[in-house]
Amino acid sequence: MTMKVGILGSGVVGQALGRGFASRGNEVMIGSRTPESDKLKTWMEKTGKMASTGTFAQAAAYGSTLVLATLGSAAEEAIDLAGLPNFRGKLVIDATNPLDFSKGMPPGLFVGTTDSLGERIQRRLPEAKVVKCFNIVGNSQMVDPTYEGVEMMICGNDKTAKEEVTRILKEFGWKGVIDVGGIEGARWLEALVPLWVRVGIALNNWNNVFRVLHE
Ligand SMILES: NC(=O)c1ccc[n+]([C@@H]2O[C@H](COP(=O)([O-])OP(=O)(O)OC[C@H]3O[C@@H](n4cnc5c(N)ncnc54)[C@H](OP(=O)(O)O)[C@@H]3O)[C@@H](O)[C@H]2O)c1
Repeated sequence: MTMKVGILGSGVVGQALGRGFASRGNEVMIGSRTPESDKLKTWMEKTGKMASTGTFAQAAAYGSTLVLATLGSAAEEAIDLAGLPNFRGKLVIDATNPLDFSKGMPPGLFVGTTDSLGERIQRRLPEAKVVKCFNIVGNSQMVDPTYEGVEMMICGNDKTAKEEVTRILKEFGWKGVIDVGGIEGARWLEALVPLWVRVGIALNNWNNVFRVLHE
């Protein structure tokens, strides 16, 4: 089953997931304010014929499945640029984090524990099916992770959308998912990220993932 995937975000996450989707036979368009940038030209050359770039609005209109991979503080601005009707009825995989670097490294969060960026995005896109996913792993581990048997923690309100994300993750080499519930679970998935950064600093290594051991 192949699909058209629109990725909003031209950073390392958008590029890694774009390569991942294209490598599984899907057509991918990365959306950016500067779709002609050198970094996106390089990404297209490396990714091959399944890859294209466009504006945020073009990528959002193009994809039957969408990925949100912008700077967390710009996520809502990027959604507005993409055009709210382009999200209607679609799965939106939300990889963003509300990281606050105003006090330097390591970061805090600009949304507290009574709300989350995932919930803000779902509220802005009430007719889309937002699933929080990929936000707690480094971009190098998102596709073809080097560790075996790891489950991705996800959340979202729509059961079918989460089943589709589970299918995609298995294609990408993940064992499966741990579904922590509705989109309000994003409060806790996002809160894990400042911890993940601190672990990366302590280990001096960013190729680490949280793995839940269970029967
Ligand atoms: N880096 C990781 O390994 C990692 C892992 C897990 C989750 N995440 C999360 O994934 C997201 C993407 O991370 P990243 O490191 O790939 O990229 P990033 O540097 O956080 O974000 C780059 C993207 O944000 C867009 N952007 C920045 N300011 C904007 C604005 N004012 N209006 C509209 N768009 C704006 C850029 O648009 P243009 O294309 O127009 O420049 C670009 O597409 C972040 O939320 C991050 O927390 C990152």
